[in-house]
Amino acid sequence: MDGRTQFRFDATAVETPCFVVDTGLLARNLEILAAVKARTGCKILLALKGFAMWSVFAQLREVLDGVCASSPHEARLGREEFGGEVHAFAAAYSEAHVRALCATADHVVFNSFGQLTRLGPVVEEECARLGRQVRLGIRINPEHSEGTVPIYDPCSPGSRLGVRRRHFRPELLDGVSGLHWHTLCEQNADSLERTVAAAEAAFGEFFSRMEYVNFGGGHHITRADYDIALLCRIITDFQDRYGVQVYLEPGEAVALNTGYLVTTVLDLIEADMPMAILDTAVPAHMPDVLEMPYRPHIVGSGEPFEKPYTYRLGGLSCLAGDVAGEYSFDAPLHLGQRLVFTDMAHYSMVKTNTFNGVGLPSIYTFHPGRGLQLVRRFGYEDFKGRLS
Ligand SMILES: Cc1ncc(COP(=O)(O)O)c(C=O)c1O
Repeated sequence: MDGRTQFRFDATAVETPCFVVDTGLLARNLEILAAVKARTGCKILLALKGFAMWSVFAQLREVLDGVCASSPHEARLGREEFGGEVHAFAAAYSEAHVRALCATADHVVFNSFGQLTRLGPVVEEECARLGRQVRLGIRINPEHSEGTVPIYDPCSPGSRLGVRRRHFRPELLDGVSGLHWHTLCEQNADSLERTVAAAEAAFGEFFSRMEYVNFGGGHHITRADYDIALLCRIITDFQDRYGVQVYLEPGEAVALNTGYLVTTVLDLIEADMPMAILDTAVPAHMPDVLEMPYRPHIVGSGEPFEKPYTYRLGGLSCLAGDVAGEYSFDAPLHLGQRLVFTDMAHYSMVKTNTFNGVGLPSIYTFHPGRGLQLVRRFGYEDFKGRLS
């Protein structure tokens, strides 16, 4: 089974639109991550921003050490539903955020020394009150870009993410137990190798003073061509050189190629070219298709005109650009037909919204051997509850 191109459940047995996550494919990704942990002793956190389907957390926590959170809400979800270590990072926190994180997080990473000096004492005070311990970290910016798209490159000129070496304040490191960077996006281990070299050149003198260094996310570890041997070598060498614990915090790699968005053809029209309207809305159910942007794969489809019947596939919202792309098929599409978009687990489910009042997709799991299970169905109350 290849989750990039195929699926193994009955697409007519689900109500649409819906996400289906195949726990067998998740298990395959987890095996790869478990092997990286076993070979290196690194710790791996789930980046909740990428995948926060809490009904499968029990499966994920058999391998992963905890979560990284971008907000008090994610941290609370991690504490309540995942367990293990909860790490938090945000570009800035309010005092209220930090107080909330003291109840749920184990590590709070600041984006500036200004935030560290202003809010570090708040952490100390709140933790004393709660009888908890929260360790502090600083995000650094190695100023080494591996990506070419500025909005996905935290090292692009003008980026607000991470402290540059010229602004680094070694005299304020007392009480800081970790350094963190996040600079990659869907990249292979060679990108990490160059990033580590850049980070060492700028910040290497501080690493051995730390308990941990977090290499962030963006490692496409579970992709077929990912160089796992190189990743393991980089981590092991780094830990040996500096005597620190290395963390990775992938989101995408955990759920890569494990999930689907199943849709139904509602109408077939002529609109300069044959067009199918699906019971989904691209800006509401798969916004990254428009934001990244990218062309999702549909099982059984080809590039435009590669197969005999080509259609433009659109959604049911008002947006003129509510279009997934142009696809060709072996046979004409028909009303009621199911179309299955692949690789929709990460960064789709977490980003859904109810623009136009469209319903949120239901969520199913598919367990090999046990079949489909409806996990959650959404309704009017979920739409209304976000408004007032
Ligand atoms: C700080 C941080 N950590 C981890 C991640 C997860 O990245 P990915 O899902 O690409 O592995 C991100 C993604 O933006 C991030 O900003």
